[in-house]
Amino acid sequence: MGDKMMAGRFVGSTDPIMEMLSASITVDQRLSEVDIQGSMAYAKALEKAGILSKTELEKILSGLEKISEEWSKGVFGVIPTDEDIHTANERRLKELIGDVAGKLHTGRSRNDQVVTDLKLFMKNSLSIISTHLLQLIKTLVERAAIEIDVILPGYTHLQKAQPIRWSQFLLSHAVALTRDSERLGEIKKRINVLPLGSLNSMDAVSERDFVVELLSVATLLMIHLSKMAEDLIIYSTSEFGFLTLSDTYCSGSSLMPQKKNPDSLELIRSKAGRVFGRLAAILMVLKGLPSTYNKDLQEDKEAVFDVVDTLNAVLQVATGVISTLQINKESMEKALSPEILSSDLALYLVHKGMPFRQAHIAAGKAVHLAETKGITINNLSLEDLKSISPLFGSDVAQVFSVVSSVEQYTAAGGTAKSSVSAQIEQLRELLKRL
Ligand code: ARG
Repeated sequence: MGDKMMAGRFVGSTDPIMEMLSASITVDQRLSEVDIQGSMAYAKALEKAGILSKTELEKILSGLEKISEEWSKGVFGVIPTDEDIHTANERRLKELIGDVAGKLHTGRSRNDQVVTDLKLFMKNSLSIISTHLLQLIKTLVERAAIEIDVILPGYTHLQKAQPIRWSQFLLSHAVALTRDSERLGEIKKRINVLPLGSLNSMDAVSERDFVVELLSVATLLMIHLSKMAEDLIIYSTSEFGFLTLSDTYCSGSSLMPQKKNPDSLELIRSKAGRVFGRLAAILMVLKGLPSTYNKDLQEDKEAVFDVVDTLNAVLQVATGVISTLQINKESMEKALSPEILSSDLALYLVHKGMPFRQAHIAAGKAVHLAETKGITINNLSLEDLKSISPLFGSDVAQVFSVVSSVEQYTAAGGTAKSSVSAQIEQLRELLKRL
């Protein structure tokens, strides 16, 4: 506020520390280009409204053009009295074209500019983020197509549950990300409504729903990435050994030479916290504000820029990690210990006519019997099994195959090869539309 812009009302100078607190130019100069685009459109509207003559419009447009060039060449000189990008551009315009520059601000406030600029910026950012997100989904889907025959244990509560295809795991993450992609698409239509085209002037200059929406969608997306990162961190430990991350995405230990730390995935996990923090901060700023513009709203840009930058980096790194990791089929196979087929033993009895609840108890007894005998369930004799239920026959041997197990689940969304292939096809189709 140190410049002469409001010189009519104010006497004396502002406390320099207050000036520092108030200035946002170091942050919002990222809006330089969209600020100029907005001003160009506004100048044209002023000419149509008869506020600017044709010559004045041309002067203003060529001045703005020059400023745009200065920003893109990195030669725009920010001076200490430039409070923010809007005042900086206007000050420069006056230097270049003289007093006619002052006509540009007729009928608009910086508050209009802030919303216009931020929405234009977000529109561009959203399309970049969406592209990176689609690339990640595509990477998961194509990897799933290539490695469809790989089987590993599926986990619930981080305890072995049932065998699944590795592709089913990859696609579970891809599917969640398609919802994020759709959500990003949905917020675009509201970002496309600028203050000049909006319904109500008081709401237009102060609503920050679009910021909250972007940050919310971003938070959920980050939560999904964090979950995927956590799964991969666990699978990459030597205890699991299911996969090896590329060195490109890991770091070593300064002390222990054997270590290879999954830094990339840990950072993805932590950035989820960071992005949520930005959302929480902006919600706190908005809570309790009275109507229309208040300076509190200046906090919005730092949050948006940080979240946009974080998403851009994280999505590209996630794609890199997924496309370069190597799977270790032997470790996956080794982890497919026979108890993982206990539910299949129950299903065997279901096929013989036993109600599932009873079958579950019978299979549970088999697990217990094997445990007391110190053997695995596939090594129980037919006699042992018959002692639990007379429905067991010699064909029970076929239960103990992980391939037959996964192949039972042919319903939509299941882990049978046909179902996984169908999911891949559906996702490929969806990707064309996203
Ligand atoms: N840099 C400020 C912002 O980003 C500009 C708006 C100031 N508006 C005002 N009426 N004082 O929010």
